[in-house]
Formats: sequence, structure tokens, C-alpha cells
Amino acid sequence: GPLRLLVFGAALREESTNARLASLVAGILTDAGATVDLAAMREFDMPLYDGDLETAHGLPDGALALRDRLEWCDAFVLASPEYNASVPGVVKNAIDWVSRVRPQPFKTKHALLVSASPSLIGGNRGLWALRVPLEHLGTRVYPDMFSLAGAHKGFTEDGQLTDAGLQQRLGETVTAFLRLVEADARYVCLQRR
Ligand code: FNR
Repeated sequence: GPLRLLVFGAALREESTNARLASLVAGILTDAGATVDLAAMREFDMPLYDGDLETAHGLPDGALALRDRLEWCDAFVLASPEYNASVPGVVKNAIDWVSRVRPQPFKTKHALLVSASPSLIGGNRGLWALRVPLEHLGTRVYPDMFSLAGAHKGFTEDGQLTDAGLQQRLGETVTAFLRLVEADARYVCLQRR
């Protein structure tokens, strides 16, 4: 069947530019033949990680719901803002909770990291910081990344990028990522025969 991709907008706010970027990536993946689950951080309510809470109640429902969505997918795309040149606390907190589940759902999954920011750097430093916990958990983070600078002016009314060259580069990055996931899925099937 078609590959299953979770595309995750990692900011909480409704008007998130990263959510817009996630929608755009979801459309590119759908056009390329993938089955896409578009998710947003606001769907996964969870408290700050607390070992006492975990001992008393196990994982919060929001973390379990995110775990389910990750388990469903063959690969995921994370669209995350950069806060103070690093990973937003909300994102790190979600990774920390979900990392407590066994089997650990980040392990061996392919991931593409993208970001949007009004700044000139486009949130790219946050993506480098995000690689550390994800690679630690065994996620195969795609070497190439995409960061949209000037994101507050970066989208047309119909949700495409205003810069045609950037739109093309995003399309190429996303489809190259999908090709890698496809090739790996085929390789794993062959090995299982
Ligand atoms: C930011 N922002 C920001 N932007 C950036 O490019 N580099 C940075 O280091 C920071 N740091 C930062 C810290 C905090 C606490 C906030 C709240 C914001 C700005 C950020 O990129 C901007 O708010 C984006 O619009 C956030 O992404 P969403 O919500 O549009 O997806």
C-alpha cells in the first residue's frame, strides 16, 4: 500500500506559520502518492514531564495519542519553530513523555525536519538542536532540512510559498525524502522474505 506519513506542526498557536508549512508539506506528500496524517501540537495536551505523575498514572492521554499517531506512520515530518536558538520546551516535553513508551516509537523511523520563522535564519538552529534528542532515540533524521525565513510574509493566500524558487526546493526536498523512505521500506520487505 501507499506509505503513511505523519506531518506534525509542533507549535501550539492556532495561526502557527509552522502549521501552515506542515499543511503545505502534507499537500506535496499527498500529490506524491503518500497517505498523510496531518497533526498539530494542540491536539496533544500533556503536563510537564514529572516522574511522580508517571509512577502514579503512567503516561498522560495526550502522550499516548501522539504515540499512536507515530506508531501508525512509516515516517514523519516535523515542522517546528525555534525558540531562543533551540527546541521549544513544548516539543522537548512531548518527546520526553513519548520516549517513555515501550516499544519506543521514534526508533528507526525516518524523519524530515522543517521550520518557519519570521527571522532571516528561518529557525534552522532549532532544527539542529532537535536532531540531538531524535537521533538519540534512534530516529533516522534526514540530512537535508528546510527552513523558511520571513515566514510571516512567506505564504500566498492559497498556502503556497511566495518565493517560487523556495517552493521548488521544498518540493524537491520532500519528494527526495519520500523516495528514501520508499527505498528503505522495500529493502526491509526484501530482507524479511
Ligand atoms: C521566538 N522566535 C524566534 N525566532 C527565531 O528565528 N529564532 C529564535 O531564537 C526565536 N526565539 C523565540 C523565543 C520565544 C520564547 C518565542 C515565543 C519566539 C520567534 C518565532 O520564530 C515566531 O514566534 C514564530 O512565528 C513561531 O512559530 P509559529 O508559532 O508561527 O509556528
